[in-house]
Amino acid sequence: MNRLDGLEIPWWRRGVVYQVYLRSFADSNGDGTGDVNGLRSRLPYLADLGVTALWITPWYRSPMADGGYDVADYRDIEPCFGTLADAEQLISDAHDQGIRIIADLVPNHTSTEHDWFKQARTAPIGDPSRDRYHIRDGKGADGAEPPTDWTSVFGGSAWTRLPDGQWYLHLFAREQPDLNWGNAEVRAEFESIFRFWLDRGVDGFRIDVAHGLVKDPTFPDVGAAPEILVSANVPDHPFWDRDGIHEIVPSWRAIVEAYDGYRILVAEAWVRPERLPLYLRPDEYHQSFNFDLLKAPWDAARLRAVIDDGVKAAAAVGSTSTWVLSNHDVMREATRYGLPADVNWRTWPVTGPAELLDEAAGIRRARAAALLMLALPGSAYIYQGEELGLPEVCDLPTDVLDDPVWERSNHTQRGRDGSRVPLPWDRSKPAAGFGSAPAWLPQPEGWGELSVAAQREDPDSTLQLYRAALALRRRHGVDDETLDWLDTDPGTVAFRRGSGLRCVANLGPEPIELPEHAEVLLTSSGLTPSGRLGTDDAAWLL
Ligand code: GLC
Ligand code: CA
Repeated sequence: MNRLDGLEIPWWRRGVVYQVYLRSFADSNGDGTGDVNGLRSRLPYLADLGVTALWITPWYRSPMADGGYDVADYRDIEPCFGTLADAEQLISDAHDQGIRIIADLVPNHTSTEHDWFKQARTAPIGDPSRDRYHIRDGKGADGAEPPTDWTSVFGGSAWTRLPDGQWYLHLFAREQPDLNWGNAEVRAEFESIFRFWLDRGVDGFRIDVAHGLVKDPTFPDVGAAPEILVSANVPDHPFWDRDGIHEIVPSWRAIVEAYDGYRILVAEAWVRPERLPLYLRPDEYHQSFNFDLLKAPWDAARLRAVIDDGVKAAAAVGSTSTWVLSNHDVMREATRYGLPADVNWRTWPVTGPAELLDEAAGIRRARAAALLMLALPGSAYIYQGEELGLPEVCDLPTDVLDDPVWERSNHTQRGRDGSRVPLPWDRSKPAAGFGSAPAWLPQPEGWGELSVAAQREDPDSTLQLYRAALALRRRHGVDDETLDWLDTDPGTVAFRRGSGLRCVANLGPEPIELPEHAEVLLTSSGLTPSGRLGTDDAAWLL
């Protein structure tokens, strides 16, 4: 029997999705960059880990100005990642192992090397090919000032001037011109791209920058101080979270629904919590990442509030919550949770001081957070290396930094490369088993100690914790979508699932007694000699 079929509950409502940052996962041909065949060779590892699906970051043809989020051709694979045939083989191999594939689609912008932009750049002013992007006159007597004060998410102006004097909009790097979603050709093209990949068997799409597609057609100034890598959370913002977005998504949903077998749309929407359910309405996205868990500090009251809001908001629109502790855009949680709650982890790698970091607390909390997240109703996303407890690499030499944020922020932020260092598979092999050549970002000393092979031997490793948690999650009560809070100490986060599974996390300063239970199923770091749950530890009970 096909293991993908016969589920009564659509897989995505409770699935565990593993995020593959392709160029840092596994390198099959020794060029230092991870690729599709490297991922194919590691499918047995992912099947053994017990994940439901993979989300693969963009693999399309790209000059890689933003790690592939600058797409030159949406219907072909970037040669450094492999070929279209490799991708088709991957989809088929994954399906054979019971793993689904979510592609990462980037509709907000293309690459400047996309045919459309090459055409628009050289076309005469007013040519229809220019209307696929946001290309406008500047301000000031000779149009020498940008059309608005909008700033790029990566820092600096969001406008770049063309040789003919007009300006084009790019909410990200200058190599990523924003598409005009008011243009009918843009809409039709993406409908065709969806079908292209659905026909090749993908089970869903993660939609990049889902909250940025629509711009205020009057192009007003924002008038606020810019922030790097933060989406403003104000009502009626000229380019974030505009209502017009919801006129676009239903046509995508209809396309996806027309295919068999529970194909899905997942939104990357950094919006205010009360706006998130709008993206989850029955004719829009199936899932939208709940970034509030990721953003919350290690604080019991804050975590309880975020979880409670997330569960209720998703239920109100018939969806389930989509939990995330980390991804390729944020500091890895084993480091994030080691910093004091009031420290800005985006700037800390530049500003320090280094002494603020408590590495031991960070990894301990990350392990407890994993048990917390994996016990919640809904689905959960795991970012590659999270299951190994990898830390952020905060001291990459600045000359290897690849993320445009480092330059565009005028070196006030190192950017996101520290979470993208290629995975360690085996300490006895070159590049810690990532591939036969040095990896595209240098792996730090001792990286191999954190490798899959090393952690497989160690029953107390983070990898074994994740494996056990995923196996138990399948066995104990993820069929229901309810959560009841347990009446415990304010320093704890403790709840019960409909199946009887209980999760208790202790964020307080002292060890606590476990609530009455028949069995301790799993703990993040063991119990104290007197059987209590220590600070920064979590347990699953029956
Ligand atoms: C999303 C991606 C990020 C990328 C940006 C621009 O936020 O997750 O990595 O830089 O979109 O495409
Ligand atoms: Ca390679």
